[in-house]
Amino acid sequence: MRVPIIAGNWKMYKTVGEAVNFVRELAGLVAGVSGVEIVVCPPFTALAVVAAQLHSQGGNIALGAQNMYWENEGAYTGEIAPGMLKEAGCRYVILGHSERRQYFGETDVTVNKKVHAALAHNLLPIVCVGERLEERESGTTEEVVRGQVQGSLAGLTAQQVAGLVVAYEPVWAIGTGRTASAADAQQVNMFIRGLLSDLFDEAAAGAVRIQYGGSVKPGNAAELMAQPDIDGALVGGASLQADSFAGIIKNAV
Ligand code: G3H
Repeated sequence: MRVPIIAGNWKMYKTVGEAVNFVRELAGLVAGVSGVEIVVCPPFTALAVVAAQLHSQGGNIALGAQNMYWENEGAYTGEIAPGMLKEAGCRYVILGHSERRQYFGETDVTVNKKVHAALAHNLLPIVCVGERLEERESGTTEEVVRGQVQGSLAGLTAQQVAGLVVAYEPVWAIGTGRTASAADAQQVNMFIRGLLSDLFDEAAAGAVRIQYGGSVKPGNAAELMAQPDIDGALVGGASLQADSFAGIIKNAV
């Protein structure tokens, strides 16, 4: 049985103070919720204070980062190393988000380096894939997603794949209010699981959690999460308010 994972990707939102207040409020709203893993992914500046707050309040919320570099340390101005995230209290790290690919030149090759580095530091990657609108309209969704999955996960063992998270996020559904239908999302998630079975093995494909992301809200979460191959959500906009994020979490179980 795969435990669903609902992760809030805050993107470039929330100051240190806002972040601490948010997790305090969220903790009250999701106290006692079980059967789902809850992750918040603040900006780098708020990781340590959010970790401290989560630790002091106890409970069921884990911490993730939104990106990292693959080297252990060095002269890489502006970058953050995997060990730094681990020490700051992160369990997860989002890698290859479409905004990283679109605005910061990330490719499957760099995402793959990051995935290997994260796993080497006991961070669990949330590896993002997804097609752009023109790719969906030209019927190349599966081809695009296949290339991203193959490239991003190259060189991993089946055991490593079993433990990580893949997030299918059609780019045209991110921040647009335009959600993929539950059937369309299920179809791609099922395709990804089949591909992972071919590339690695059936056990890994059966164990890996595959999220959907793109305009997930409390109102559409239940239908999406009811799909057999959708094991959670990567949530942007609706993860910024504690009540809407808690609504999604509660509707996922
Ligand atoms: O990482 C989250 C996704 O980019 C989805 O963002 O929920 O605002 O559409 P959104």
